[in-house]
Amino acid sequence: MFSGVGKTAEELTLALENGVGQINVESEPELNRLNGIATKLGKPAPVALRVNPDIHAATHDKIATGRKEDKFGVAWEDAPRLYKAAHDMTGIDVRGVAVHIGSQITDLAPFEAAFSKVAGLVNEIRDTGIDIRTVDLGGGLGVSYKRDNATPPSPAEYGEVVKRTVGDLGCKVMFEPGRVIAANAGILVTKVIYVKPGETKEFVIVDAAMNDLIRPAMYDAPPRRFTGHRRRCWLS
Ligand SMILES: Cc1ncc(COP(=O)(O)O)c(C=O)c1O
Repeated sequence: MFSGVGKTAEELTLALENGVGQINVESEPELNRLNGIATKLGKPAPVALRVNPDIHAATHDKIATGRKEDKFGVAWEDAPRLYKAAHDMTGIDVRGVAVHIGSQITDLAPFEAAFSKVAGLVNEIRDTGIDIRTVDLGGGLGVSYKRDNATPPSPAEYGEVVKRTVGDLGCKVMFEPGRVIAANAGILVTKVIYVKPGETKEFVIVDAAMNDLIRPAMYDAPPRRFTGHRRRCWLS
């Protein structure tokens, strides 16, 4: 499955040539471009439209992706028209509905709201005679950063929401988990170079910087505590 808001013509071609399982289309221009490429290649593109459900997940502004004002997905109101347009295109094989509402989400309510909307849309599109066979629910499940005291739901609890909302559709359900797998899979090891007294706090200067870990600076990503050889400190 190939997702992302800025896929180039070269990437779409490569994906089709290599028999990609599904392309999540995020805009009308992308749909038109993909149709052109697939028609030329003689390989209809298996497509889900990534829809924007206008759900506000309580997470950091920069990693909330499912609100109306975010750049991701096609507008909810445009979806029925775009499904019809896609269905009528020779280069497009409409398969499913995709959604991804954000990252580091520690409350199940926004997932439940988004997935319920997706289920409604699947039925609505099916009623127009278009066969919807897949739902892609994206990623987004949060992890605990200790300092933020977050108690994210478990994958099993998340699974219950999935079952309740889209379980009866008869669709193949797809997921795109990232953080919940990767966040605990590695650490950044760095060395303390100086401990520098400041007016209000002590700074620990280390030999890792934004080129190694840019997200705390760009996205306010919470740094994790680590234990140095002299004292406990925060990497930020
Ligand atoms: C389209 C899409 N799917 C999945 C993910 C993974 O999200 P997470 O790491 O929160 O599970 C992202 C993250 O940016 C994304 O943009």
